[in-house]
Amino acid sequence: MAKEINTIAVLTSGGDAPGMNAATRAVVREALYRGKKVKGIRRGYAGLLNEEIFDMDASSVSDTISRGGTILQTARCVEFVDPKVQEKGAEICRKHGIDAIVVIGGDGSFKGAQKLARLGINTVGVPGTIDLDIACTDYTIGFDTAVNTAMEAIDKIRDTSTSHERCSIIEVMGRHAGYIALWCGIANGAEDILLPEKYDEDQEMKIIEHIKMNKRKGKQHHIVVNAEGIGHSQEMAKRIEEATGMETRASILGHMQRGGVPTCKDRVYATTMGSMAVKLLCEGKSNRVIAHRNGEFCDLDIDEALAMKKTIPDYMYYITNSLV
Ligand code: ADP
Ligand code: F6P
Repeated sequence: MAKEINTIAVLTSGGDAPGMNAATRAVVREALYRGKKVKGIRRGYAGLLNEEIFDMDASSVSDTISRGGTILQTARCVEFVDPKVQEKGAEICRKHGIDAIVVIGGDGSFKGAQKLARLGINTVGVPGTIDLDIACTDYTIGFDTAVNTAMEAIDKIRDTSTSHERCSIIEVMGRHAGYIALWCGIANGAEDILLPEKYDEDQEMKIIEHIKMNKRKGKQHHIVVNAEGIGHSQEMAKRIEEATGMETRASILGHMQRGGVPTCKDRVYATTMGSMAVKLLCEGKSNRVIAHRNGEFCDLDIDEALAMKKTIPDYMYYITNSLV
């Protein structure tokens, strides 16, 4: 017989992302609508271990749908990879009467949810990260806001770069994944885009040749979007200036990309996903993750989801070279 679910908790884990509050709000309101008790857990798995657990009602999430960051706060909790610590986490859930948890975060956070599910706490993951690096889903909460924030910043840098006839290297977030760089590179019409997934040693030389060739054609500015995973933007700028004679500046956009008011898409998708997560838990399901695939919202087994691999779409990569 399926376990009865009376109390559902919600936590956010890993890097924050605009739209996480919309997802949290949907979890709270959907669970209350279905007659469940709701508890918030502060600071991800770290807060679970410290028993930072509190009751939530409809007003706990009032005026939050438009707010960036996460009202539940978030943390990276390295100890949670230890099976003994995971058992302690499950024990704390039982102590507080938590039957199920919605975990809003990325792949790392889903691994924690998978372990709790094995220990008898029902879990559903909701994909939240600006990096878009979760293989099972075409959409992650926060990516839309983050790429729009970065795109607007790059437009501004482009204005001054053009006026001064400079090369600008703009570094965007993404330690392991180049999706923000890819999307901004395309949206900002960058001359070169550097992605960790595709980077090779000759890339800098290719940029230098590209600038020289464009100069011969009369082009006096050059935008390079570089992903954080490749980094070294300042050093790259120095070498490019020396080799091309074109004044070069590096700008690292940093954490501003993770903040701000979520876009309409992030609010609507996050709300839908949060609500779906609660529906699954109320149906007695566990160890699932909500995804958006081929234009539809759906859910998958976490084990299956974590085994998937994500690659840069071939055609998007092709146009990063063909349209410059
Ligand atoms: P994200 O969820 O965005 O991928 P992280 O990789 O930093 O971010 O993971 C967030 C948190 O998830 C970690 O700090 C840790 O608490 C938990 N976590 C990560 N990997 C595991 C694992 N293998 N087992 C259990 N918990 C994990
Ligand atoms: O949340 C994802 C992310 O913003 C990555 O793009 C980036 O590499 C990392 O988090 C930065 O983490 P921190 O906030 O710990 O510097």
